[in-house]
Amino acid sequence: MAMRLDKYLTETGAGTRSEVKKLIRAGQVTINGEIAGKPEQKVSEKTDVVCLRGKHLTYRQYEYYLYHKPAGCVTATEDNLHRTVMEDLPDPVRKDLFPVGRLDLDTEGLLLITNDGAMAHALLSPARHVPKTYLARVAGRVTDADVNLFQNGVDIGEERLTRPAKLEILSAGETSEILLTITEGKFHQVKRMFHAAGKEVTYLKRVRMGPLALPDTLAPGEYRALTEDELGELRKVTGLTGAADR
Ligand code: URA
Repeated sequence: MAMRLDKYLTETGAGTRSEVKKLIRAGQVTINGEIAGKPEQKVSEKTDVVCLRGKHLTYRQYEYYLYHKPAGCVTATEDNLHRTVMEDLPDPVRKDLFPVGRLDLDTEGLLLITNDGAMAHALLSPARHVPKTYLARVAGRVTDADVNLFQNGVDIGEERLTRPAKLEILSAGETSEILLTITEGKFHQVKRMFHAAGKEVTYLKRVRMGPLALPDTLAPGEYRALTEDELGELRKVTGLTGAADR
């Protein structure tokens, strides 16, 4: 399929529409070895070789990154006060990338960052009940009564009780360590569920979202592209096909 050269360049992360127009006008872009003349010139993302300052660009309609969000970093594309989850991504960051869902400022862990709106929508859809698993440290002793409470649904001040959630106690004591799997994503949900059980979450990390697991090898602040297998699993749970078919 042919597309405008300026759109192509923007989608490979070469810059904003106005930046790439300047690059084209400055003669820094070639198509199959010929200097490109106009932003509206058509290129085929399948067959044309486009270079910026001699460097071959690879076009991908959609990008998917698995990011290990550190604490103290805000889940937004821009913020005046805090670092954002976009700032560790490869430079220049494609302008259409965004985080899928939200983790609190002090929450760590797995965050998918993509420009695939349909995929994000499907993963966040309340109807789809995509499971998310959190590792938490909780002040106070977490008990089997909490396991039952979370299984049956908790009143966190919403219209309905929370959906059944699976609580696994890893260790219980003055501070307890747990895994909690929920299938919805209400604001501050894990903290509010424990609050409703009379306990406070002191540390929170997301370790799974649907078929994606946070790899041990990914340190806080690090990201990597999704593997083809991971992408295939995501497509399976969302019922979406590959980019070329949409
Ligand atoms: N639940 C919370 O309370 N906070 C998060 O960041 C994610 C889930």
